[in-house]
Amino acid sequence: MEQPVQNAIRNRRSIREFTDQPVQSDLLEQIISAGIWAPSGLNNQPWRFVIICDEEIRAQLAALTHYAHIVKAAPALIAVYLDQEKMYDRVKDHQAVGACIQNMLLTAHELELGAVWLGQILANKEQVNAVLGLSGRYELAALLAFGYPRHRSQQSQRQPLETFILHEFGGTAP
Ligand SMILES: Cc1cc2nc3c(=O)[nH]c(=O)nc-3n(C[C@H](O)[C@H](O)[C@H](O)COP(=O)(O)O)c2cc1C
Repeated sequence: MEQPVQNAIRNRRSIREFTDQPVQSDLLEQIISAGIWAPSGLNNQPWRFVIICDEEIRAQLAALTHYAHIVKAAPALIAVYLDQEKMYDRVKDHQAVGACIQNMLLTAHELELGAVWLGQILANKEQVNAVLGLSGRYELAALLAFGYPRHRSQQSQRQPLETFILHEFGGTAP
């Protein structure tokens, strides 16, 4: 049986090196469209997005993170925001935006794009808002970088499953 969701979950990797090929806007819209189908508490859909392909704005954002080389090299960026006027519970809203971002990364993978979730730039989130012309109503959750991968040799590891399971009460018949 084909398991496209499992395959995408396991084979998606963070891609940090991109070719110069631009990313078409309809692909970016498909990625955002997948993001907004994430679950959210009370279905409040607190996420908002800024699409950035402009080279000058990318350079200004690059200056705000240790990962400048990734931001400069990515032909497309999507800044993912939380709209504080839509939020109702900080933890649940942040969980929801995480689910939204994962949908976006998996969709990029399905579209054969590379992508990486950039969190370090949150250290300068006020300056990011200034560059993007946004008020404090919008709280930066992540910057996502997209492009066509220069190569696909990225590797990643996970610890064994047993590491993460604290207890198992009961069980199913063999
Ligand atoms: C909240 C969060 C913040 C991250 N921030 C960065 C970042 O600032 N720079 C970066 O290169 N990767 C960043 N990553 C990507 C992780 O390094 C990457 O997901 C992890 O090493 C596992 O690799 P994989 O995505 O290929 O499975 C971030 C991931 C998450 C979930």
